[in-house]
Amino acid sequence: MLTRRHLLALAAASPAFPQSGPLIVPGKKPMIVHNDFPEDLESPAGYLASWITPNDQFFVRQHLPRPKVDVGSWRVEVGGMVANKLSLSVADLRALPQASLPATLECAGNGRGAFRPRIPGLQWTKGAIGNAQWRGPRLKDILAKAGATADAKYVDFDGADVPAGKVPEFIRSIPMRKAMLESTILALEMNGQPLPELHGGPLRIIVPGWDGASWVKWVNSIQVQAQSNPGFYMARAYKYPKVPGAPGAAVKPEDMDVLEGMAVKSFFATPEPESKAKTGTPVTFRGVGWGGENRVARVEVSTDGGASWKPATLGREDFAFAWRTFSFNWTPAKPGYHTICCRATDSAGRSQPIDAAWNPSGYLNNSIERLGIVVEG
Ligand code: MTE
Repeated sequence: MLTRRHLLALAAASPAFPQSGPLIVPGKKPMIVHNDFPEDLESPAGYLASWITPNDQFFVRQHLPRPKVDVGSWRVEVGGMVANKLSLSVADLRALPQASLPATLECAGNGRGAFRPRIPGLQWTKGAIGNAQWRGPRLKDILAKAGATADAKYVDFDGADVPAGKVPEFIRSIPMRKAMLESTILALEMNGQPLPELHGGPLRIIVPGWDGASWVKWVNSIQVQAQSNPGFYMARAYKYPKVPGAPGAAVKPEDMDVLEGMAVKSFFATPEPESKAKTGTPVTFRGVGWGGENRVARVEVSTDGGASWKPATLGREDFAFAWRTFSFNWTPAKPGYHTICCRATDSAGRSQPIDAAWNPSGYLNNSIERLGIVVEG
């Protein structure tokens, strides 16, 4: 068992825990702690080298304290513009046809910590992302059962987490075109386990290829609507400028769109930045790349700071919505400080910029990663 002394030693020894020290949350390996209540936990990059991110290594983000969960009495109410209101238990949801798919979940603010000028908010580095196999009923089957009416354009999701005082409710909407896809499911399971409470158990919505804010946890209300929810989390938060402005410049709310989809990006999971290597001895770089709703077409690596690029070897798992692992072997020829970069291109032809567009909330940072390696003679 890990004792507090072990954890402090680990924190001191590892640059993976730069913040307030590691926190052991039941069911989690040591994580980078941005907040401990509500829990905002980042996965150290080294946890992200494999195709599936185990549940105990998966990042956590919540705006509000976690609700108390009782799976036995859990119900999700389906209402709004429907012919038949529904109230479904977990057993009712399990009785529907189940779908299973791998999908990458990334917080829109992943990488915010690297934007300059700095942006208030959680200073995520690389690890507000993970890839899991999700399983549960399709949203479209539930909407069909409820008889969503023809002019319904949006579906709102509310979770059981309740704000205190004037803090807004976390309610998110997705348009009907996304709601009706085969791939949009209500997950009861994550990586073959009942969905952990930290990840929204017993029920959350999976919106593959879209940023994590749409993936509402502890879903207890699904409302079919003519318009997107007017509350804070659709009207103000998770918006991105229609046209990028200068770094640091304010953008008027009417010049922003609701975030839909995600950027193409890749990063190195191992080795750690500033690792040491030896001339003539091979080093293997491992990482992941993903393209939101698109597949990953290729990942390239540069060992000369971006002057020239070579293809990385892609992992065999190739799915829309899920990241793709890559590896790249390099035998350094000369000593010195080397800048290694990776760059993904997706099936829609999108590729990563040298520097992602600065935006007022610090979303979608997909700048090409630069990893320093110190090569000794
Ligand atoms: N759902 C509820 N009910 N409350 C929340 O605060 N946070 C969202 C989303 N779903 C949130 C939520 C955000 S911003 C993200 S990035 C993901 O959950 C994170 O999911 P995870 O904690 O399972 O990694």
